Amino acid sequence: EKAGYEHFMMKEIHEQPKAVRDTLHSVIKDDAIDLSGVGLTEEEIKSVSQIYIVACGSAYHVGVAAQYIFEELTRIPVRVELASEFRYRNPILDPNGLVMIISQSGETADSLAALREAKKKGIQTLAIVNVVGSSIAREADKVFYTLAGPEISVATTKAYSTQLIATYCMAVQMAYVREMINIERYQNLISEMLKLPDKIEKILYDKERIQWFAAKQANAHDIFFIGRGLDYAISLEGSLKMKEISYIHSEAYAAGELKHGTISLLEEGTLVIGVLTQNDLYEKTLSNMVECKSRGAYLCGVTSYGNYNMEDTADFVTYIPKTDPLFVTSLAVIPLQLMGYYVSVAKGLDVDKPRNLAKSVTVE
Ligand code: F6R
Repeated sequence: EKAGYEHFMMKEIHEQPKAVRDTLHSVIKDDAIDLSGVGLTEEEIKSVSQIYIVACGSAYHVGVAAQYIFEELTRIPVRVELASEFRYRNPILDPNGLVMIISQSGETADSLAALREAKKKGIQTLAIVNVVGSSIAREADKVFYTLAGPEISVATTKAYSTQLIATYCMAVQMAYVREMINIERYQNLISEMLKLPDKIEKILYDKERIQWFAAKQANAHDIFFIGRGLDYAISLEGSLKMKEISYIHSEAYAAGELKHGTISLLEEGTLVIGVLTQNDLYEKTLSNMVECKSRGAYLCGVTSYGNYNMEDTADFVTYIPKTDPLFVTSLAVIPLQLMGYYVSVAKGLDVDKPRNLAKSVTVE
């Protein structure tokens, strides 16, 4: 059942190219995105004035990335919220807003409660869900099904990747319908999306190098992930993957926040993982890495092919293929999933069933 892999998590990591491809092809037909299956009409797309993305855990991290992408492409203001906070906050919702709930299981108690709260307030709801017929899928006004297939490992990988794809497709289509991007940009974005599965595959070929690096980190006490913009969103997910299966304390910081407190935590040898895939932010975050190094940090960098000068600063660098900067999360997350996985394996832990966690959190 694990198809020759030692753990479900590794099997599911390798299923990502297919899961992403299947999800892309469920809405991309003849080089255009068709959201009619989701039930979103052009009229509705044009009238949305605000998007609220509500989710828990990794699905929330998809929301953090999606906020950058929706705002950049559609210029519709987006708020991202943890479902457990949203439901008790008596949120102020724009009547022309769209509440987007993201959930693999479709059964997460807080996400379901947030959906009900939005419906009670009369706001249009759309769910991005993996499990067909789940509570969230049944109750939302519209559903975008991710085609990740069953996910067994508690730590999500392929569902997260397909949730990202769902948000890309929606953002690109909404931007086009609202005439925020022209046909050339639209087609270019679609063609870049369609190349993602092969690029994910390519990163997976490099897994032994990451295994070699990760195996040396098994005794780490603290790990810090830093990045700006979308690289911060990726850092949040990389950090969660690491801590939940390796039991090593880890935190993600917006790189600019280091100086506001966190940098005092660095000691000789503390591992800092910098995610630097956004060209316009590269120099800024690189200078934060230099600062960490001068305080004794041991540095790992995740960046795009071509940024070889990172090797002057970082002790270990892992490269990802180039793509449109908006879609980079889909690639940069792969080495971070592998890192969490291999640290957990090196420590001899129960990778697929980390202590105290359940796959589906149906109580708050
Ligand atoms: C982390 C993880 C969790 C889930 C969260 C939401 O690897 O899997 O953080 O993302 O519990 O679950 P769903 O997506 O089922 O609502």
